[in-house]
Formats: sequence, structure tokens, C-alpha cells
Amino acid sequence: MFSYSESDLYCEGVPLADLAGHTGTPAFVYSAQGILDSYRAYHEAFADLPHNVCYAVKANSSLAVLGLLARAGAGFDIVSGGELYRVLQAGGDPSKVVFSGVGKTPDEVEYALASGIHSFNCESEAELMLIDAMAARRGVTAGFGIRVNPDVDAVTHPYISTGLSEHKFGIAMSEAPGVYERARKLTHLTAEGVSCHIGSQILDPSPILEAVDKVLALAGQLRAAGHPIRHLDLGGGLGIAYHAGQKAPEIREFIASLHERLRASGLCVMVEPGRSIVGPAGILLTRVLYRKKNGAKEFVVVDAAMNDLIRPSLYRAHHEIIAVRKNALPAITADVVGPVCETGDFLARDREMANVMPGDYLAVCAAGAYGFVQSSNYNSRPRAPEVLVEGSGYRVIRKRETYEDLVRGETL
Ligand code: LLP
Repeated sequence: MFSYSESDLYCEGVPLADLAGHTGTPAFVYSAQGILDSYRAYHEAFADLPHNVCYAVKANSSLAVLGLLARAGAGFDIVSGGELYRVLQAGGDPSKVVFSGVGKTPDEVEYALASGIHSFNCESEAELMLIDAMAARRGVTAGFGIRVNPDVDAVTHPYISTGLSEHKFGIAMSEAPGVYERARKLTHLTAEGVSCHIGSQILDPSPILEAVDKVLALAGQLRAAGHPIRHLDLGGGLGIAYHAGQKAPEIREFIASLHERLRASGLCVMVEPGRSIVGPAGILLTRVLYRKKNGAKEFVVVDAAMNDLIRPSLYRAHHEIIAVRKNALPAITADVVGPVCETGDFLARDREMANVMPGDYLAVCAAGAYGFVQSSNYNSRPRAPEVLVEGSGYRVIRKRETYEDLVRGETL
């Protein structure tokens, strides 16, 4: 995906310094091969188990990225009408779409029913009643799964942990059978599955396995009670390596570890991975504007900022930052900061890094997931372009915004 040849960093066959010279910076760059390899790792590891890998669109929703995955056969996990629109625009198959999220609006439910999605992951009884009523009006039957809250600790950043009973997500395990029972009376719903998702950036998959055991037991209990449960949706959450040398769970090993548990159930297994598919396959390219010192503290001021990649500011997330062209100078320790007028605008703090000079390019690694999608126009900064590399070629899949784009839709 990303590797050095001599002192130059490449994405697949493309030297990133050349690409940066053409497209300008900041820019997000994705490796098509990297994305497809991770998707296929999931798909192939399921082997003969009936399955559906539903890519979590929220991680990176660029049309070209969705198109790549759609052509590879992926399903999609969406959380809004906007994401459904993107999936359909990209050629995704609606019959492989699951709709998650705690606050679906009536318009979104209507759109999803009209599009013929596979099923809804429901998070409350009120939502079930809404979907039933809207399905009845259209004369269709909607598939649903209850997202249960297995009350296991995903051991990750508190903002992206979701599986504890104190979180807003899901319905408690103990209440789920009653909810399925009452849903039997809703004649335009069919209980397709059971779903869960305990959090994101999970580096030790054992809590996921603990949750799988719990939802598997629940699915068995529901089937015994006569519910037509056909699938288990295990959510996403597999972590990736953000630190150099960090060990992240292997996709293939993780899926293989599920086989034994799931084979006997005869259920179709769905997963909703986002980060582990696109995260490592993307970088944010940025250019050094200035070097400065305040007292003993060293700053590298770059042209990317918290509006482009908010993860370091928001979650204190670590992203490796490496030189696009290596030099032989001794390393420095510096804060890498952007032009936004906030102390919280940093990409790295007290980081040992390459001794870069103004004009040099840096790559902020593992920025393919929750990067561009969480970017904003804060400080009236046009959003960065996105570039997709395929072999020795690349194309701009989303143009850099212009000043006109910034005021589009506004009136004086
Ligand atoms: N399914 C559901 C229901 C989810 O809520 C999520 C992520 C996923 C699947 C995909 O999880 P993944 O495989 O990507 O871990 N902005 C944060 C991450 C928020 C994740 C929210 N839900 C970040 O930058 O770390």
C-alpha cells in the first residue's frame, strides 16, 4: 500500500511527492488495492459460512470508495438517508444494505423501504412501531433485527465504546425476548436477525467473542420460541495499528475464530467493518509551511489542520507522521500543528519525527477511516480533495473545495 523505494514514499506505484505536486495539499490519498485486500480478507475468511460483509459507510463514504466495494460484492451498513443515497449512487445493491442507528427519521425509514433494503437494525420499540406502520402503508414487510446491548466492555476510547448498559445504544439483552414477542403482533415486520456492535478500534477481540456468545444464545432462544431469525449481525469494531510497530488483530484470524461458534447455528453471519477496511489504506498528505520555536518547544506548522483530520484533537488519537522524502538529518521532537486558531489544533504532540523543512511533504498515516468524513469547513477552510491510487495511476475522486463552494447555498 504505502512503502519507501529508496528515500521516496509511494502509494502502490505512485510517488507521493509527484502526486502532491499535482493535486496540491492537504489531500487524502487512498490505495484501491489496500481497500480491496481488506474487504477480501473478510469475505474469504468466511469461506463456506453464509455471510454478508456490510462495509460501514460512515468510515469513508466517497462514491469511488463505495463503488470499488460494491463491485467487489460488498453489502453496506448505513446510518442515514444520506448514506443510503451515496450507496445507491455508487451502484450498491440495496438488498445487501442494513440500516443502523438510534434515531432514524420517518423520511429516512420511507426512503429505505422504497429502496428495498435488506433490514433495519432497531434500537427501540417506538422505532419498530414506526417501521411497521410505514411498511403497512406501502403494503410491504420490513425485515428487522434488534440491536441488543450485550453489556460487555470493549476496552477502547470512551467516545467510541458502545456496548455497556450506560450507553444510548441498543436494547438490554434481558428485555430483548419481550420486545421480539411484542413485535410478533406488528404484522408488517419480520424478525430477520439479532445484531450488536460493542465499540470501535478494538485491539483485543475477546470482548467481541464474549458478545458473540451472548447474541448467539439469544438467537437460539428466539428461534426456539418460533421467531424466524435468519442472521446474526456482529457489528464492526476491529482495530488497526495507529502506532508504528503496534499489533492489530488480523482480519482473517479474527473471522476464523468465529467459525466454530457460528457454524452449527446455520445462521447467516453479517459484519459491519469500517475502519479495518479503509483506515490503513489512506493517508493525509500535507506540506510543511514553517518551523518555529517558542522557548524550548519546537513546532512544525503544516497546511493540514483539525478541520481536515479531527481525530488527534477529538480523541487524542495517535497517527504516525512520516516524511514523503526521507533526509539524512537527525530527528527532531516537535508538535505538528495546523493553521486553525485553536490550541487544540494539532496532528501530533512532542513527536520524534523527521527533520523536515518548509516545502517538504509529510504523510499522516492511517487516515483512510474517519478522516475526510469528519472534516469540516471550520475557519472557512475548503475541504481537501480525495485521490484514489490504482497501480501506477491515480485520479481525483473528489475535488478540492473552492471559496465559491464555501458560500454555496448562503444568502446575504
Ligand atoms: N456498526 C455500527 C453500528 C457502528 O456504530 C460502527 C461505528 C461501525 C459498525 C463501524 O465500526 P468500525 O469497524 O469502523 O470500528 N469517529 C470514531 C469512530 C466512531 C465509530 C462509530 N461507529 C473514530 O474516529 O475513531
